[in-house]
Amino acid sequence: MKILLTYTSMTGRNEKIAKYLADYLKEKQAEVDLKQIIETDAFEMDQYDAIIVETYTYHDGDVPDEAEDFYDDLKDVDLSRTKFAVLGSSSKGHIHFGRAVDYFTMALNSANGEQVADSVKIDQDPDDDDFKRVRELGDRVLKSGEKFD
Ligand SMILES: Cc1cc2nc3c(=O)[nH]c(=O)nc-3n(C[C@H](O)[C@H](O)[C@H](O)COP(=O)(O)O)c2cc1C
Repeated sequence: MKILLTYTSMTGRNEKIAKYLADYLKEKQAEVDLKQIIETDAFEMDQYDAIIVETYTYHDGDVPDEAEDFYDDLKDVDLSRTKFAVLGSSSKGHIHFGRAVDYFTMALNSANGEQVADSVKIDQDPDDDDFKRVRELGDRVLKSGEKFD
């Protein structure tokens, strides 16, 4: 199964989680491309069996600046053959906790993608329970691709 894990991270939390999830998926024999959102072409996502988007939230509940172009392009892509999941660390200390996760979840659904796991929001640094939720998200993505193996 070929998975794109695309993430954005300013202070490193989401980068750390993305690397953890990529390693977990690879251990389970998935082929994983780990990329930053700013380097990801939304129009090439249909070549993957599944995509995972990971983002923090910025500017009072907004998508991070460097993820805006990618987010806007989702309006013009057709992901009708693509499974997806969304996660991200943000902070309950700010308003609209993790709302960029919600925006990406809605945008990928609107692009006809098939959401295969509930979106996961993490408050700041992940604890053991958060890592468990991250692995569970990964398991759901892998399960959705079983017919491709
Ligand atoms: C200026 C600023 C604005 C932020 N705004 C929000 C916000 O509106 N909602 C939210 O849930 N988190 C917000 N955060 C928290 C970040 O999303 C959180 O620190 C996240 O873990 C950073 O992830 P990273 O380490 O991958 O960059 C904000 C952080 C900063 C510095």
